[in-house]
Amino acid sequence: MNTNKENARTQTRNGSQNHIAIRTMHTEDYPNVYRLWKTIKGFGIRSMDDSQEGVERFIRRNPSTSVVAEAGGEVVGAILCGHDGRRGCFYHVCVREDFRKQGIGKAMAVHAMRALQQEHINKVCLIAFKKNEVGNSFWKSVGWTFREDLNYYDFALNDENITTFQ
Ligand SMILES: CC(C)(COP(=O)(O)OP(=O)(O)OC[C@H]1O[C@@H](n2cnc3c(N)ncnc32)[C@H](O)[C@@H]1OP(=O)(O)O)[C@@H](O)C(=O)NCCC(=O)NCCS
Repeated sequence: MNTNKENARTQTRNGSQNHIAIRTMHTEDYPNVYRLWKTIKGFGIRSMDDSQEGVERFIRRNPSTSVVAEAGGEVVGAILCGHDGRRGCFYHVCVREDFRKQGIGKAMAVHAMRALQQEHINKVCLIAFKKNEVGNSFWKSVGWTFREDLNYYDFALNDENITTFQ
């Protein structure tokens, strides 16, 4: 992936120019980021992890690695990104539907990957639902490796962290 581009000046369908700012996500961004998440079809929003308290805890632990894309003062894209000291992880990668296919998703991913490199993290991963054709096409097209040689395991540690699919 090209890691040189942090701001994207993109072309809208009617030909006008949008200036998109890609920057680090802060705890104050939560209401706007949550509003964006609620528009993304197929997203699973978790009652605890994705609450204001949950996201603020995540950002306090990982203050420099999550990203938002802003256009005209509105949050039009976001990536929650953190690491555990060894691996980086992306969650809830999204771009508002009317801003897609303009390079914003890629520019945000590059921004987050650079932030992880600054933290001396050497690898980053994410989970994509198998049925998410757009998401899987996106990751393959921006050069991420699809792993066929492993299975994903998890274990719920809190049954109150309920997922609601949109
Ligand atoms: C996936 C998503 C974040 C991509 O954002 P985006 O800003 O539209 O992506 P970009 O414009 O940066 O696209 C980068 C590359 O991905 C590919 N791509 C993007 N959308 C695609 C689509 N719908 N179908 C096929 N390929 C696609 C393009 O080939 C593009 O490369 P190119 O423009 O150089 O040809 C966005 O579609 C989205 O929010 N989807 C819903 C949420 C989601 O599925 N998130 C991923 C969870 S794993």
